[in-house]
Amino acid sequence: MASAKKGLRTQAIILIGFMGAGKTSVGRALGEHLGWKFEDLDDRIEQREQRKIADIFSKDGEAVFRRLEHEALNELLGELSAHEKRIIALGGGAFAQNRNVGLIKSMEIPTVFLEADPRELFQRCKKQVAQRKAERPLLRDLESFSELYHVREVHYRKASFRQQTSGKTVPQIVAELIQALLLDRDGRRGKQK
Ligand code: S3P
Repeated sequence: MASAKKGLRTQAIILIGFMGAGKTSVGRALGEHLGWKFEDLDDRIEQREQRKIADIFSKDGEAVFRRLEHEALNELLGELSAHEKRIIALGGGAFAQNRNVGLIKSMEIPTVFLEADPRELFQRCKKQVAQRKAERPLLRDLESFSELYHVREVHYRKASFRQQTSGKTVPQIVAELIQALLLDRDGRRGKQK
């Protein structure tokens, strides 16, 4: 993973990646480590809509979900301030939408792509669904899952940083991220603590 540009200060870090990449668990742990608020964009969408994402997909379809997702992201980024820094986890499809990428890049918010092998991601997602820990409207078979992963990967690679997660624990990933981003609690990047 590349090192952060020196001397920059940021109000947020955005985690991106496919379903099951660990955006929420890594985001929460990274937020706790830095003392920054953690926010999951999917949770904001559900709160704004007062219904579950699976319900939006089944009743209104993906195009409506993508519009709601963009509106929620716009709202969230508009709330950022230097006084309350945030770690933000996006849903797996959000960074594959050009309007979202444009918005994030225009604000110069660093993004981190959490990478893993699609077969491993598929197994993690199947397990989460079986244990009722997550509802995944786009999860079907390994073939369609891998196909979608490869379509999305092209977009994910536009992230500012890439972090490999395969075979790593959440604390390990957080430690590697802090090191690579050279991030301190004030959002200053480029200085070792
Ligand atoms: C989606 C991923 C989900 C959620 C929605 C659509 C996707 O988020 O936004 O079900 O298109 O990959 P997670 O990646 O957090 O599961």
